[in-house]
Amino acid sequence: MEKRNKVLLPALLEKMRQGVPITMITCYDYSMACLVEEAGLDIVLVGDSLGMTLLGYEGTLPVTMADMIPHARAVRLGAPGAFLIGDMPYMSYQPAVEMAVRNAGRFMAEASCDAVKLEGGAEMADRVHAIAAAGIPVMGHLGLTPQSVSALGGFKVQGRDAARGKKIVEDAEQLEAAGAFSILLEMVPDRVAKLIRDRAGIPIISLGSGPDAHGQLLIFHDMFGLYPRFKPKMAKVFGEAGKVILEGLRRYVSEVTSREFPQPENWFTIKDDQFAELVKSLGEK
Ligand code: KIV
Repeated sequence: MEKRNKVLLPALLEKMRQGVPITMITCYDYSMACLVEEAGLDIVLVGDSLGMTLLGYEGTLPVTMADMIPHARAVRLGAPGAFLIGDMPYMSYQPAVEMAVRNAGRFMAEASCDAVKLEGGAEMADRVHAIAAAGIPVMGHLGLTPQSVSALGGFKVQGRDAARGKKIVEDAEQLEAAGAFSILLEMVPDRVAKLIRDRAGIPIISLGSGPDAHGQLLIFHDMFGLYPRFKPKMAKVFGEAGKVILEGLRRYVSEVTSREFPQPENWFTIKDDQFAELVKSLGEK
């Protein structure tokens, strides 16, 4: 595969200025990241959604820095050209500004990330400001913020009434003022997202928030039918990898059971003279 030029922050801003959509995906491991790299995605987010897709949790709250760092490192190795964002897990930034900076720094130092993402609006502006002041690009995340799912009353569209829509618009302004380099809008109504995009001087990325953002994000496992529990409305399935894998696994079980697998091309041999010597050395006939 031909090596591409690494995607840097100025290239993302240039895409925004030129009106060229930014492509972003959530992925979690080396093999998937290699495919993402080959396809040329701009931004890769190592999301704390790995708690659900990889670890089987109901939500993202149990995910820790110790879970996130190895996955971010693996994705970096698979996608060296992508702009890599580490998703700050629950309670890695909420308790204190200094904790937020230290944990953001871990993504950069230990996993070679290019930026971090955290959830929340105006109440997180001090964290965003401090992380950005430490020289770490930080993406904001508004709308459905899964780490606050209890307070939000479930996984549902946010900002559907005027007051809550206004709050999201104002939060976006505060995050930008605090130094966020970009903002992700998750499950925000399309026209609210467009209002935010029209007012913003930084890239606005949509996850289920309509076509007018500067870029789009989907989660790898949703795109390829790999998450068994549900398929969010906003996720388009671009390939039924889950079905292909299930079919393959069923064939594997069947072929092992019927002794059709393995065949000589699937195992290794030893030369006759070496085997004879081995048998002799063991005292066997
Ligand atoms: O963890 C994740 O993948 C995310 C997206 C849902 C935005 O934060």
